[in-house]
Amino acid sequence: MTTTQGLGLARDLAERHGQGHLVAGWDSLGEEARTALAEDILAIDWPVVAPWLGEEGAARRSHAARGDRAELEPAVALQPDDVQRRAARAAGEAVLRRGRVAALTVAGGQGTRLGWSGPKGTFPGTPITGKPLFRVFAEQIRRARDRYGVPIRWLIMTSPENDAATRSFLADNNCFGLPRRDIAIFPQGVHPSIDLASGRILMADRHAIAFNPDGHGGVLRALETSGVLDGMIGLGVEVLSSFQIDNPLVRALDPVFIGLHLDAAHSSGEMSSKAVIKSQPGERVGVFARCDGRLRVVEYMDLPEAVAARRDADGGLAFRWGSIAVHLLGTAFVRKLVDPDSGATLPLHGAMRKMPYFDPATGRRVEPAEPNAIKLETFLFDAIPFAEKSLVLATDRREEFAPIKNSRGEDSAATSYRMQMERASAWLESAGVRVPRRADGSVDAAIEISPLSASGPEDLEALAALPGEIRPGQRLVI
Ligand code: UTP
Repeated sequence: MTTTQGLGLARDLAERHGQGHLVAGWDSLGEEARTALAEDILAIDWPVVAPWLGEEGAARRSHAARGDRAELEPAVALQPDDVQRRAARAAGEAVLRRGRVAALTVAGGQGTRLGWSGPKGTFPGTPITGKPLFRVFAEQIRRARDRYGVPIRWLIMTSPENDAATRSFLADNNCFGLPRRDIAIFPQGVHPSIDLASGRILMADRHAIAFNPDGHGGVLRALETSGVLDGMIGLGVEVLSSFQIDNPLVRALDPVFIGLHLDAAHSSGEMSSKAVIKSQPGERVGVFARCDGRLRVVEYMDLPEAVAARRDADGGLAFRWGSIAVHLLGTAFVRKLVDPDSGATLPLHGAMRKMPYFDPATGRRVEPAEPNAIKLETFLFDAIPFAEKSLVLATDRREEFAPIKNSRGEDSAATSYRMQMERASAWLESAGVRVPRRADGSVDAAIEISPLSASGPEDLEALAALPGEIRPGQRLVI
């Protein structure tokens, strides 16, 4: 409960930052509403948000202050040969077997582009059985637990908005066979949404600020404030295998990646990333680059067109390595990053959004037709430059990247389902099964492989009931 002193402080904070409109209706509010509003105001991280407000924040909001003036050089990704892969796999599996690795899924955000009413993790993620995305990863973790013979913890970051729905979805589905005690669900933080033109903080209601989730970079702080980081360190977890909820092809726990991440020849063991070759210069993924000798990811909109299109002598893109948002993070590294004395603060990014709001001057709710607001976020990849030596591992897109971001077109469920069936077919073919293909090379069948059956083609060979051949048009779930 906010005290009288707290109410005064909230009012003072708003006025001092030129946000008097937040408290203009203060006296007409009932006690409960006023307390709620005061709590919202006190929850704002004012020193972080203030530079984006009012006249002074105008350049930041309009992106005039954005863009990289720094000299960028392309980053090189490690492409290990079979011998290196085998050694890394053995090392990674040993660490998994000792229970030193937890899976971490960022599943907050707003999912505006997908237009799905529930949390993204409840979206049907697979082509035939329509398994929810949460189930796809739960099954991968179950298989790893059975293979390595240890509990493997699953950390799920939600947003304040989808936290309750995520908890009940997992509970209603019996956590898809994982023990509830092995799952930690924790919400990310928020920042206030800001009116693009005026720099005023937007309201959601007469007594409520309009907040937005603080970006996937918020996972670092959320791990700390929820106590989950301490809990994991207490359990002896050293590596967090982090991925996004919307990529069903992801390998939630990849022993090869883990082995390389822990190999001092390639990495300081703090933060490693996977990369795929960009499909074309304009593909909307961040690229790995070096800046002042340090590795980082440059967002696609910050990479000037001419730089994105630059080619090497081999004809490939100079900045070819695109981020698929798959990282390994050392728990000690996360602890260092969240230490206020470390000087490791993730930069805040502002993105334009169309955001409904409550106008205290008219007392009406406004549904804008055009982007009207700035949402402030941090990105997990911005932690990379704080690592001493950070590995980028080259990865085959067809094996590991088929995100479901949009309701239609590119990166939609349709494109992801197609890629999942392509990968399943390729695995079957490498296990000696004949898969029917059309004249253009596309697969003439619908195939889905459960994460419980196989995590790679090598597992398929061990399956007893594998068919020798698939008929054209056949639907098959393995
Ligand atoms: P996206 O960048 O696709 O954002 O998130 P989004 O909120 O899901 O969707 P849009 O942009 O509104 O359409 C990439 C991943 O990061 C997580 C998402 O859950 C997804 O796994 N994320 C994003 C968070 O956990 N928190 C955030 O604040 C933003």
